[in-house]
Amino acid sequence: MQQKLIQQFQQQFNAEPQYIVQAPGRVNLIGDHTDYNEGFVLPIAINRYIWLAFSPRQDDLVRIYSMDFNEVKEFSVTDLHQEANNWIEYAKGVAKFMQDEFGSLRGFDGVLHGNISRGAGLSSSAALELTIARALAEVADIPWEPITMAKLCQQAENQWVGMNCGIMDQMIIAIAEANKALLLDCQSLAPKQVALPQNASIVIMDTNTRRGLVGSAYNERRSQCEEAARILNVAILRDVTADIWGNSQKMLFGKCLQRARHVITENQKVLDTVTAMQHNDLGKIGELMNASHVSLRDDFEVSTPNVNAMVTAAQNAVGCFGARMTGGGFGGCAVALVKAMYANDFVDQVTEQYEHETNLKPALYIAEAVAGTRSFPGSINHINAYN
Ligand code: GLA
Repeated sequence: MQQKLIQQFQQQFNAEPQYIVQAPGRVNLIGDHTDYNEGFVLPIAINRYIWLAFSPRQDDLVRIYSMDFNEVKEFSVTDLHQEANNWIEYAKGVAKFMQDEFGSLRGFDGVLHGNISRGAGLSSSAALELTIARALAEVADIPWEPITMAKLCQQAENQWVGMNCGIMDQMIIAIAEANKALLLDCQSLAPKQVALPQNASIVIMDTNTRRGLVGSAYNERRSQCEEAARILNVAILRDVTADIWGNSQKMLFGKCLQRARHVITENQKVLDTVTAMQHNDLGKIGELMNASHVSLRDDFEVSTPNVNAMVTAAQNAVGCFGARMTGGGFGGCAVALVKAMYANDFVDQVTEQYEHETNLKPALYIAEAVAGTRSFPGSINHINAYN
């Protein structure tokens, strides 16, 4: 894959790239729609990536050839304008907020390529943002501080792209460690790396249905949570602990009650999952995942019939401890925890069952938990050494 990238760079720019950046996608094990309520999340970075091969330029032009879109886009880091909805807007947004923060950005020539399915809920956009941030930092000699960079990338997505996402995706993609899940407190941003359970596989189950998050009901859900917090007289739903929830829920009705109930119980489920992981209690983790799905489906209302079909097929398949939708919802992926020795049989069974029920071809794969965004020297020898 990286070899193709380097060859493309040579074709486009008649030279070897000086660097290659690699940023992974992510899957969230539990804790969805909690991050923008300053609650808890538990994602892993996965072995699907966006790569950028690049070399610094002397001027402030960023010129990128995307292998996946087969097109060249360019912009000046000092003269940024918003244009049509397009992949390059993510790059421009990151440049804008890095320029505001650090000043003196420089340009680069780059070739971009990825294998994270777009719109599937695996954070291809956050991976793209971190890829660009890392490249801009490299060419302008800006020290790589992952948490600062994650925040700037989130700002780009909120204020440039217009998607009011939380901080989970950018944080996991910036600071993930291999073989670990990240317990993130989205209020303090205190990260805790948690060892993954033994003898279990994490299976990503792509329903092959898509819905863009921008302009979807995502931003509406966020407003409903803010409305619930206002009624409860707290700054943010995170501040409602399980203890006070007992009484205060009487103040809420309808959608506000449902949304708040999801967030507050989901936060507790994340913490309980971490405890279960520490005891390698796979059955308990599975139960919590199943319960999280019900809450996202019925209270938060962000699942779809196809995602539900996938989750049910998974829950009924061999070796499954638990399964749930993952990420923003409205289509995309589900995730399952499966006894490692049955993982391949599980994939076959769920694929067949889902296809039978929906007439759609799903994509299932066993995920590896990998490290966050990295930068390498751009020669093939180095790449081979790292992989
Ligand atoms: C999207 C957003 C995240 C998070 C999830 C839901 O992936 O980008 O910030 O809110 O949805 O958990």
